[in-house]
Amino acid sequence: MKETGGGNRLRAARQMVRTNLLLGVDFAPLGKPPASNEAPAAPGLAATSRQDTGSTGRRARTASHKQKMLDELRERHDRECPHCTTATAHTQTVFGEGNPEARLVFVGEAPGAEEDRTGRPFVGRAGELLNKMIAAMGLQREEVYIANVLKSRPPDNATPTPAEVMKCAPYLTEQLKIIAPQVIVALGAPAAKFLLDTTQGITSLRGSWHSCRLGDLEIPVMPTSHPAYLLRKYTPEERGKVWSDLQAVMKRLAEADR
Ligand code: URA
Repeated sequence: MKETGGGNRLRAARQMVRTNLLLGVDFAPLGKPPASNEAPAAPGLAATSRQDTGSTGRRARTASHKQKMLDELRERHDRECPHCTTATAHTQTVFGEGNPEARLVFVGEAPGAEEDRTGRPFVGRAGELLNKMIAAMGLQREEVYIANVLKSRPPDNATPTPAEVMKCAPYLTEQLKIIAPQVIVALGAPAAKFLLDTTQGITSLRGSWHSCRLGDLEIPVMPTSHPAYLLRKYTPEERGKVWSDLQAVMKRLAEADR
C-alpha cells in the first residue's frame, strides 16, 4: 500500500520516540511509545537482497556471488595476512559478518575477548550496545555488515598500532569493495583514521560526512563514537551525539532510496 506523507511522518515520529527510548536519550519527545508489535519505521532501509545497479554498476553482483567472494577473501586472509598470521594474542580471527549486499556497514576497531572466543564481531558488551543502535535505526543486525580494522584480537585489547593496521586493514578494504555499501559508519578513531586516511581524532571528525575511496568507489563515511567509549561515558550528551550521527545515516540512506 502506498504511504501518505502524513503516514510517513507519523511513522518517522514514532521511530524517533522508540529510538530515543532505546538509546536512553532523555531529551526524547514524550509521547505514547509505539506498540511493540508494530513494524519499525525504517526509512527505506529494509532491502536485504537488492540487485539494483547504480550508475557504476557496483550493486550488480548477486548476494551469493558476493558471499563467495567474501568467503574466498576470508580464506586468503587467514592464510596470508602478515599481521594475523604472526600475531599471538588471539585464538582465532574474526573476519566480519552480515549481509553481503548490505547498504550499511559498521567498521569497528578490533575483536575483544568475547569476539575472540566466538569468532564473531561485536558480540560482547560493546556489541550489545551496537545491536541497540542498529535496532534504534529500525534495522536488524542481519541486514547490515559488521567488520573491524584488525581481524585478530590485540594483546590486552590495545589500540591497533599503525604497523598492524597497515598489514591487516588492506583485507578490510577488499571486503568493503566486495560489499560496496552505500554508507559506512566508522566506530571510533582507528576505523575513522584508516578509512579517511587521516590523523584527526574522532571528536573533530564525528558528526559530519566524509568519504572513503575504495578503488573506483567513493563511499560516504559517518564517523561516530565507538560503543565501548559510549559505555564508559554513558551521558545523555554523548548518546545524543551518536544518535544524531545515526539519524544522519538514516536520512542519507532514505535519500539514496528515492
Ligand atoms: N570492539 C570492536 O571494535 N570490535 C569488536 O568486534 C568488538 C569490540
